[in-house]
Parts: sequence; structure tokens; C-alpha cells
Amino acid sequence: MCGIVGYCGVKNTSEILLGGLRRLEYRGYDSSGIAVSGENSIIVVRRVGKLNNLTEAVAESSLATDNKASFGIGHTRWATHGEVSEENSHPHTDCTGKIAVVHNGIIENFSGLKDRLIANGHKFKSQTDSEVIAHLLEEAWNGDLNAAIHAVLPMLRGTYGIIAMHADAPGVLVGARCGSPLVLGIGDNEMFLASDPGALTRHAKKVVYLDDGEIVSITADGFNITDGKNRDIKKTADNIEFRNDDFEKGDFPHFMLKEIFEQPESIKRGTTGRLDLAASTGKLGGLNMTEDELRAIRRVVIVGAGTSYFAGCIGANFLESMAGVPARAELASEICYKNIIVEPDSMYFVVSQSGETADTLIALRELKRKGARVLGICNAVGSTIARETDGGVYIHSGPEIAVASTKAFTSQITAFAIFAAIMARLREMTSVQGDAFIKAFSAIPALIKETLELDSTIAKLAEKYCNYPNFIFLGRGICLPVAREGALKLKEISYIHAEGIGAGELKHGTISLISEAMPSMFLVPNDGLREKNISSMKEVKARKGRVIAICTAGDTEARDIADDVIEVPETLPILAPFLMIIPLQLFAYHSALKLGRDVDQPRNLAKSVTVE
Ligand code: AGP
Repeated sequence: MCGIVGYCGVKNTSEILLGGLRRLEYRGYDSSGIAVSGENSIIVVRRVGKLNNLTEAVAESSLATDNKASFGIGHTRWATHGEVSEENSHPHTDCTGKIAVVHNGIIENFSGLKDRLIANGHKFKSQTDSEVIAHLLEEAWNGDLNAAIHAVLPMLRGTYGIIAMHADAPGVLVGARCGSPLVLGIGDNEMFLASDPGALTRHAKKVVYLDDGEIVSITADGFNITDGKNRDIKKTADNIEFRNDDFEKGDFPHFMLKEIFEQPESIKRGTTGRLDLAASTGKLGGLNMTEDELRAIRRVVIVGAGTSYFAGCIGANFLESMAGVPARAELASEICYKNIIVEPDSMYFVVSQSGETADTLIALRELKRKGARVLGICNAVGSTIARETDGGVYIHSGPEIAVASTKAFTSQITAFAIFAAIMARLREMTSVQGDAFIKAFSAIPALIKETLELDSTIAKLAEKYCNYPNFIFLGRGICLPVAREGALKLKEISYIHAEGIGAGELKHGTISLISEAMPSMFLVPNDGLREKNISSMKEVKARKGRVIAICTAGDTEARDIADDVIEVPETLPILAPFLMIIPLQLFAYHSALKLGRDVDQPRNLAKSVTVE
């Protein structure tokens, strides 16, 4: 969480920093700040709340009229240590006010360091862990910022992406990475540092992804990367893959709605070149595995958090149903502290949109420590998880800006559907069955487009139900994780309490909650479990509960029982999650909108959860 950015060059430094922070705001939005060079001094502007508050403050400050800054740093915060306040906002400065630091991560031993610094006479202005870095740099300062950061880093325990500047080291920024992402952007006579390359696409031509333990020093026209022992490291620069449009809302009022409507295209991108129609199977080059190796796999374990975990549950169902390979999904936050039994004939996947989720990253490292071969299913190119896995699949859904994940979810299950088809065709699935699957799967983007036409109907449904304080989402089989994802979406952005359960579990306890005040959202695809779902709906109706059914077009029985019905197009039962999730995403979006919530940046959250 938290986004950091740094700039050295001749352009308007505060504008560049604010533009970069705008792209990073999804990482945290409690408060933000910038520090830019003045005349032998550093000018700091910080504000609590959304980035607009900082933008206004900068426009009203001396920087609006007299801005000669040629280097500076910025930060957007998701609070970990200390309340949300201006004092706790970054950048943090030392006692002289000449050093400024932005930090993403947690300094675990800050309390001992702070006590020692206070005993040495340092005056602290915030309750944050990060401020110790500024004071440690002050103690280590001998005229060389690079030497100072090299002296300070060994004292820090925890995780960090840091950028620091000193008024007496004009035109120089230093950055360091340990557990929190940091990328270097290379432009024409300008250099950048940022938590993620998305912040750099407007200006930088190339990026260099820093690895843990690396320290970088930049000026407008050059950079130098070293390890902790000050040995030079040569790294290759990559092209930036994003388009600037990816970061604009276009004609949509919110990123979330734009991303929901992008799904027909984002799924197509994730399948391009990955469906082998001649052999009725899929192709995933990034797995780096031979057919013999894939045939030898006896078990698949999928690890993820939040929405990515639910995508993993669906992926496991694909693998068991289609390929007959035992598979299960595990919560990253749980598996990392278990004694994970790694078996040689098992395959491990970590799933993460951002590729930076701390829980998932810890689980990945733990699995690798125990000898597992771990593959990644990631969206963010060059992210830590993508780089630390032994291969994998980029889902290519494009940057996802809204905190609530939508298009990444359908792209993640797209990757799993392709993988399951490959595994199935290497086992019992016939070419006729493979062909039927690939044809039905190829039709999904068009069917999602059709489902998206229900938008205004779902907006009316949301208006009818958004004042209910509680909701139950119910599904069975492959639609159980869809129900849980629908509940997560609703609570995350509308703050309505919602629970996603197996419809068969209703009678084991949850049914006692059923009354007129409790709406139930049933997922009723036209599959082998349809009749059981219909029975559960009747049980709810018999207790005066309100039922909304998401069913297949033409399901008159569901229509007769439910109070409200949303009909989605027919597809293969195994592909139902692709269509069932769309009304749930739209329902969450419109409910949040009607309740006046901040749809793209819900309270207390951040897009990428880089702390445990
Ligand atoms: C989804 O809407 C959430 N914002 C959240 O559950 C998210 O999916 C989770 O934090 C995992 O993120 P990742 O995919 O980037 O690892």
C-alpha cells in the first residue's frame, strides 16, 4: 500500500509528482504529500484526504508562482502507523528540514531506532515508523546522499520502498527496495522512481524493475544501481506496456464501471494466441513445462487473496471437472503460516492482479522454500510475484484502477479455463469435447456483452434493494465462489453487509436469518444443481424471505418463485461463472452509487495490499 514517486528533470516537478500520484492513488488515499527542491531548501506540502486536496494546496502555495524545483518526491498514504493526519503524511523530514523521505512498507524495528534517535536529541514530528529514516539519514549525512542511504539501510528491519532527497545534494534522488516495489523510469533528460510503472507512462520511455536489496541513485541524465555492498549492478530496461487511455475513465463516470464494461475485450486479450482450434485445446507458453511434465501432475494447489482467491476456487473446479485433476484453492493469508506439505507431483499457482499482495508473496516464498515449483497468474507486468514465480500466465486485462476487482477476476478465470483445457486434453477429454468447450468458451465475450445490456435493469434493482442492511448470496458448485465474490463486491463498495454461502448450507444455520428484511441473491444456472437451487429458493420464500434469482434466460420456474429475476444467456454449465458474475458486479456498483459511496476508492481500503 502507499504509492511513492520521485522526479529529476527540467519539467515542472510538482506537476509531474502530482500526475504520478494520481496514477498511484489506488494504492492508498488517506493523505498525500510532495517535497520539492527550493533554494538550498526543501518545500513540503501535505494534505489529509484525497489527492485533490493536495493538488489544491499546491495550487495555493508558493509553488504555483515560483517553482524552480528540479527534483522532488511524492507519496500517497494508506495508514499503518499513526492516525490519518497531516503530521503523519509523507514526505517526512529530519531535524534540519533539509532531508525528505517517502516510504512504502513497514519498519518493524522503528521503535528501538526512534528511542535511540530521541536520546541523541532528534525531535520527531509524527507517530510514523517512516520518520526514523529521515533522522537516520541526518546522522549518516557526510555530503553524499548515496553513502548515507548505504549506511542507513542495514539498520532497518522490515519492508521498504524508499526515496530520499537532500537540499544539499541538488538534482539527486536515492531509492532503495526491500519487499515493496520500486521501478526506475528513464526519459529524455529526466529520470523517475515510482512504486509502479503506471505512474510513469506519460513521460518515461523505458523502465527498470529494481529487485530487493538494490539501491538506485538518479540524476536527470543518469542512474546507478548498486547492491548493499555498493557493487554496481547492470540491469536491462524494459518497454512500458500500458497505454495512457488505460488510466482515464473515458466516457464512464467511474473506473469500476469502465472496467466492468471492458470485460468482453479484456477476456479476448487473455485468449489471443492461446486457443488451439486445430487440436481443440489451449496454449500457454509461459508455463515453461513440457506436455510430459503436465501429464505427470497429480494435484494442483492455487493460492490467492480476496477476489483472486475466489478466481482460484473456480480454477480448481475447472481442473477437477474438466481434467479430473484434484485441485484446491487456499487463502494466501492462511497458507503462509501453515506447515504446507509440498509434494513433488503437485503444481502450485499464486494468483494476484497486482502481483504485490503481501500475503500472496509470503505464501509464494514459503512454497518455494519448501521446494515447490510455483507458477503465477498475474496482471501487473514486472510485478514482484510475476518475477519471483517459476513461470506463469499474464492475464493481460490491462491496468485495473478501481479498488474493486472486476475485469481481473474474469481474466483470471479465463487463464484457468485455458489451463484446464490443456490439462484435460492431455488426459481423458476427447477432441470432440475439447472442440465443444473451445467453441463455447470463444463465445463468452459476446455473451458478456449481451449480459451488460442488463445494466439499466440492474440499476433499478439496486435502487429497490440498496437500503437493506444485509444480504445473502447463494450458489452451488462452481457458482459458490461466484456468490462469495458477489457478496465481497457488494460489501466492499456499498458497505452493505453481505455473506456468500453454499445454497445447501442454508438449512444448516443461516436460514434462521431469513425474514422479509433479508434479501437472498440466488445464482441458478441451468446445470445439474438447478433443481436443488430451486428448492432452496422455495425454502426462503416459505419463510417470507425476498429472493432475487440470477438465472438462465427462459427459466420460467425461477421467474415464478423469485421476487425479482435477472436472466443471463445460456452457456455450458461450467462456464456459467463468466456470466453470473456480471449482474453481481453491476448490482454492487449501482447499490454503492445510489448510497452515495466512493465507488472507486471505498473507505479503509487500497487496491494493492502490500502489508500483512
Ligand atoms: C477485490 O475487489 C479486492 N479489492 C481484494 O479482495 C483483492 O482481490 C485482493 O486484495 C487481492 O489482490 P491481488 O489480486 O492484487 O493480489
